[in-house]
Order: sequence, then structure tokens, then C-alpha cells
Amino acid sequence: MSASNNTADREAKLQRNPHGDFNAVEKSRPEFEEDVEFHYTRTKDIEWVPGSGATSDDWKKHKKIAVDPYAEGRDPLNNYKLLIAGIVPRPIGFVSTESKAGIRNLAPFSYTTFVHHDPPIFCIGFASSVAAAKDTLANIMETGELTINIISEWFVEAANYTATNAPPEISEWDVSGLTPLASEKVKPPHVGESAFSVEAKLVTHHEWISKVTGKANGTLVIVEGVNFHIREDATNESFTTLDPKILKPISRLGGITYGRTTQAFEMLRPSWADEEKREEVKKILEK
Ligand SMILES: Cc1cc2nc3c(=O)[nH]c(=O)nc-3n(C[C@H](O)[C@H](O)[C@H](O)COP(=O)(O)O)c2cc1C
Repeated sequence: MSASNNTADREAKLQRNPHGDFNAVEKSRPEFEEDVEFHYTRTKDIEWVPGSGATSDDWKKHKKIAVDPYAEGRDPLNNYKLLIAGIVPRPIGFVSTESKAGIRNLAPFSYTTFVHHDPPIFCIGFASSVAAAKDTLANIMETGELTINIISEWFVEAANYTATNAPPEISEWDVSGLTPLASEKVKPPHVGESAFSVEAKLVTHHEWISKVTGKANGTLVIVEGVNFHIREDATNESFTTLDPKILKPISRLGGITYGRTTQAFEMLRPSWADEEKREEVKKILEK
């Protein structure tokens, strides 16, 4: 079975749209709030002291339910739905690849994160085996090259559109209207609209075997970042930061929900040398 048939079957089963008439629901909502600027607030309790735990007791009112991912009759797709809702917010790796024949591909993958910095290592999870690979995975396996681009508010509609299960000969660059910019160390272009892009090369991959069917159904790729592209107004002189006010990063939440990052707070990392001298800490340690 081809990857696109697989994807179509899975999508039909998943029924991602929770609303029936999605357009009617979307039109009933308030407009996108253009003028919400990223800003800092205090934490909820700036007087928090060691040992005092949570800032609300509300959690005590609710029981927890243990769910065995392989409970009898539980479809693994229910674990997919649960995990994409529970492991949030997730960054979205917007991955550009090119086949050996030169066909370009672009698609979002939220099973993406970075896992080390020296060397810069990223991992991406594909819900497909190598044999029935999504086009992005097939291209990475074939050429070992990709770019990972961070999605920002100003092109999220186009980025979401690239997740369509179009056949390999259709370029998501064309149908999304996004801009390929030449990369320096890998062949696949990076996304012009993105404020942060990483050129990367395949290090290794690992296939996952379904516990239900016993067949390969997923692939983890581990890649090394070999070049970064940072929008000049979003960074500093030493290229050590990206300003969230400018980056406006989009994250993935559960279902078909995306998140904006508009509010944040800062907290110092406690140094034990200072903390162990605090009265509250001494009292806890004496117990
Ligand atoms: C926000 C978002 C995140 C996604 N994350 C993943 C993912 O982590 N793994 C995956 O296999 N598919 C993921 N998908 C689905 C792929 O983008 C989709 O299957 C796409 O058609 C793959 O394109 P390709 O066949 O051109 O590689 C995601 C889709 C969206 C919209």
C-alpha cells in the first residue's frame, strides 16, 4: 500500500474535525487578535517559598484515571490522540527535503525537537515505516539532507496547508505559496518566511514496530544541524537568542488546535549554595 493510501485510511479513521461544519464554527469565533503583543507578567506567586508546593489546591478535587495504552479494545490511534493532546505545547518542525530526482517537498512534523547542542542534534518522528514512507521520510532516507524551519504566526495557514497528502510529484512549495531560499550546506532549500531555520544531515534512523500488528509503522530520524539561518531583527550580536516578540512561534496542541505564544514570565534557576542557607530550606532539611 502506498504512503498516501495509508495516510488517507488513517485520516478517515481519525476524523480530526471535531465540529461537523468547521467553517461555520470558525466564523462564529472572534477574529485573530493582531495587536496582542508578546509580553511578560509576574509569576502567579512571587512570594513562593521552598516546600510550599503548588499555588492552587484545585488538583486535589480530581481523581486520576490510569490508562493502559494496550487495554483490551483500545485502538492505538486513541493513544495518538491522547498523546498529541497531552504532550503540549509541541514545536513544529517544518521540514523541507528534495528527492534525488530534484522534486521538492515541504511538510510539518510536530514529533520534532532538539535533543543536544554539541553537536546540534534534532529528532523527528514519522508515523510511517521506511517501506511505506511519507515523502519527507523517503527523501531523507534517499539523500540524508533536510532543513527544519520554525513556524511563525505570519505563515501558519500556508504551513498547515502543506500537510495535505498530495502525491510526491506535487510540490507543497507551489500550492502553499511559500518561498524556497537556497541553503548553503544541504540541497533542500529553507523557508524564506521562517525566522529560524536549520540545515541538517541524517545521522541515523530507527523503525518502530506496532505492538498490535507486529509490523513497522513508525520511524525516528536523528539528524545533525550543520547551519542555522536567523532573521536579523530577531537575534542579538552573538546570535544567542531569538526574541519571542518577533519570532511569534506557533506550537501544536491536541487535535487540530494550534497555540500562539503571547504571554510569559521569567524565573531564576535556584543555586543550592544560596538556597541551603534559607530558613525555610533549613527547616525542611531538619525534619
Ligand atoms: C501541525 C502538524 C504536525 C504534524 N506532525 C507530524 C509528525 O510529527 N509525524 C508525522 O508522521 N506526520 C505529522 N503530520 C502529518 C504530515 O505533515 C502529513 O502526513 C504530510 O502529508 C506529510 O507530507 P509528505 O508525505 O510530503 O512528507 C503533521 C501535520 C500537521 C498539520
